[in-house]
Formats: sequence, structure tokens, C-alpha cells
Amino acid sequence: MRTIGVLTSGGDAPGMNAAIRAVVRTGIYHNVKVMGIENGYNGLINGDIKEMDLSSVGDIIHKGGTILKTARCEEFRTEEGRKKGINVLNVFGIEGLVVIGGDGSFQGAQKLSQEGIKTIGIPGTIDNDLGYTDYTIGFDTAMNTVLDSISKIRDTSASHGRANIIEVMGRHCGDIALYSGLAGGAESIIIPEQNYNIDEICRKLIKGKSRGKLHSIIMLAEGIGNAFEFGNEIGEKTGIDTRVTVLGHTQRGGSPTAFDRILASKMGAKAVEVLLNGKSGRAVGIKDNKLFAMDIDEVISTKKEFDEEMYELTKILSI
Ligand code: ADP
Ligand code: F6P
Repeated sequence: MRTIGVLTSGGDAPGMNAAIRAVVRTGIYHNVKVMGIENGYNGLINGDIKEMDLSSVGDIIHKGGTILKTARCEEFRTEEGRKKGINVLNVFGIEGLVVIGGDGSFQGAQKLSQEGIKTIGIPGTIDNDLGYTDYTIGFDTAMNTVLDSISKIRDTSASHGRANIIEVMGRHCGDIALYSGLAGGAESIIIPEQNYNIDEICRKLIKGKSRGKLHSIIMLAEGIGNAFEFGNEIGEKTGIDTRVTVLGHTQRGGSPTAFDRILASKMGAKAVEVLLNGKSGRAVGIKDNKLFAMDIDEVISTKKEFDEEMYELTKILSI
């Protein structure tokens, strides 16, 4: 394999740049030409492609976002759109493709694989919603960004004796809410994977207040519903002054944590090595601190297991 391509797709995630850097530098180390494809599958269809060199990935390991830019591309969901992309790969002589993205991007990669393109996925999404891997690139940074916000909200919340609802991202996955909620000492964590009872949450708030608690934090995963409606209901039912903070895209930005930089560097290098060893149609993952490359069909069909034990722990620690 003499030429490979790399693209980032779907929502950006901190650490994508570190992954791009690792792909480019590992490729060049093995005397392979690396082409950077801009704007995800859109750029693949439109031929937004340039050769990367050692310095084109210099000074990016610490930067959030993605230097290749990213996009969501409806056309790529169609066979016609993918055909255009495959033609572009052929025109540029790209023999293997590294796709950095989430679940949707992997479905695109799976289709390319089925159409004979040598493809390998790297999980890049803050959501941590891919069941085959313990961690996705960007999750740790997003969780720490949320934790920083929880700490700040705690200060003002305690001064006013308020309850705060903090809405976080994650689509249908509650990991950002669950992990940052445990680390931030939240009173309640409302996530799509678990049923909740609003009256129970309210009772807990009232009990907390009556034993002298100065503030309460309720983590709400975006997949659940409207945070402001929750805020109103909780405020009305408890009589506690309640505020709502929607953290939004702050969670997607910022310098990646050491964990994400290391994960991205290892996964980027592994992806290239797997391709150069003649394997494709896979995605790189990590389980029990061990890297592996799994068949993309299995990757996509692996359901995410909910960490029941962790959820129970958050309940025990917030009685
Ligand atoms: P993420 O990769 O972060 O989950 P999306 O779900 O938005 O993000 O998917 C990113 C892109 O992947 C989509 O805009 C589309 O171009 C491509 N994609 C998603 N699902 C499919 C599919 N079933 N077939 C082909 N391409 C897909
Ligand atoms: O998949 C990453 C993510 O940030 C989700 O958590 C969120 O639901 C979505 O993307 C937001 O997407 P957009 O970039 O379109 O606002």
C-alpha cells in the first residue's frame, strides 16, 4: 500500500487532531503517502484532498477540533454518493482509508468496505456510545469539561441555596452525564438507560435541604428531554429555587486531556499498522487497556452495555 487517506466525520471531538497526527506520522514513518481529506465524506465526494507532510500535523496535538474539518453528508448515505467518493479515491490513488468518527461515520465506512474499499475506523466522538470499545476519543475531555462546569455551578448554587439542572450531550447515551455526575458528586443523574421518578428526585432534594445541604446538582442527559421543563417541574414541586444550565457545544471544544491524546496517538498508529498488514474492514478499539482491531460488522452490531454498577454507586453515594 503506497497511499492512504484520512478523514474526520460527524461531530468533532477533542483528540481528533492527535489521531490525525498519529496516522500521518506513522504512515510517513512506513514510507506511505498520506492524503488528508477535508470536510468528512463531503470532501471525499468533492475531492477536497491534499497531501499531508510531517509539518502539516505539527503543533496540533494539543488543539481541539479537527484540522481536516468535519461534516455531516447526506449524499454519502446514497449508493450514488458513495460511488462518487470511490471514484475520487481511485483518481487520487488512495488504496486505504482511515475514518475518524462515531457510529454514523462507521456505517459509512462499513458501506465502503462492502464496496471493496480498504477501510479502517477510529472511534472519535464525545458520546462514548460505541459498545465495542471502552472509550472513544474525546469522551474524557468532554467529561472533564463538564466536571469543571459542575464545580463552578456548585459555587454559585451553594451561595444561593439553589438546585441546578445541568444538561449535557451524548445523544441516546448517558455516559457523559453518568461519569461526570459521579465525579462531580451529583445528587441525581437522569439518563436514557434508566427509568427515573421525578417525585423521588424531588423528595431527595427536599430531604437534602432539610438536613442543611446548600445546593443540589442534577445531571440530565440530552436524550431524556427538555431541561427547562424539568427545571420548572422540580422548582414547582420542591419550592427550591432552581436554575438550568445547558452546556451545549462547550463540551465539544477545548484542548484534549492527556488520556485522549494518548488514546488518539495509539489508535492512529494502530490503524495505519493494521492497514499496512493487509487488513481492513475493521475499527480500532480499546478494552481493558488493550488495543485491538475488530471487524466493522461486529463493531456496528455490538450493543453498548450499560454500567449498572456505576449507576448504583452514584445512588449510594448521593443518599
Ligand atoms: P457520527 O459519526 O458522529 O455518529 P453522524 O451520525 O452524523 O455522526 O454520521 C456522520 C456521517 O456519516 C453522516 O453525515 C453520513 O455522511 C455518514 N453516514 C451515517 N450513516 C450512514 C449510513 N447508514 N450509510 C452511509 N453513510 C452514513
Ligand atoms: O455526537 C456528538 C454530539 O455532540 C452529540 O452529543 C449531540 O447530540 C450532537 O453531536 C450535536 O450535533 P451538532 O453538531 O449538529 O450540534
